Amino acid sequence: MIDPKLPVLISAAMIQARIRELGEQISADYPDGHLHMICILKGACFFLTDLARAMKRDVSVDFMGISTYGRGKTSSGEVKVTKDLDIELEGADVLIVEDIVDSGVTLNYLMHLLAQRNPKSLRVAALLDKPERRLRPVSVSYVGFRIPDRFVVGYGLDYAEKYRNLDDICVLDEIPAL
Ligand code: IMP
Ligand code: MG
Repeated sequence: MIDPKLPVLISAAMIQARIRELGEQISADYPDGHLHMICILKGACFFLTDLARAMKRDVSVDFMGISTYGRGKTSSGEVKVTKDLDIELEGADVLIVEDIVDSGVTLNYLMHLLAQRNPKSLRVAALLDKPERRLRPVSVSYVGFRIPDRFVVGYGLDYAEKYRNLDDICVLDEIPAL
């Protein structure tokens, strides 16, 4: 059962309003051709579907599975591709869509990996950014919200696969036993 008492950090209405702004900004930044959006599974799939619909231009989507975290709250520091892309990136304007940038380990690895596939351009859109936690440099072109160093769940973000289906982004500081 979902705990209805989790404190809300960012409400569903705030998330949706910010995504509409991001959609307009990103659409304006790519005036030619179409944009190829890559969803980093699983957390970013909620953000991707709303962001894609907020775009005022043609987009295509693809999905990549990455694991870094296991079941807990701290990164193992190890990045594993669990599902590779279906579509080639050669010559494409590529936007990586991520739920949250924390240590930066995942995106730093991913940027290097995807840059080798010769896209025309490669940028990152992240719904959330925790800049205090950064261990590896990552250039994030589009950020929904900068948040403090708290563990958050909801709107795609999980703790041990739970809470992804919350509409709001909530703080989970008291961790229940797994
Ligand atoms: P990074 O490699 O440390 O930047 O971690 C990025 C990934 O860690 C994200 O895609 C999330 O899956 C996970 N993550 C980082 N912080 C949180 C959080 O506060 N809540 C839920 N997942 C998180
Ligand atoms: Mg996760």
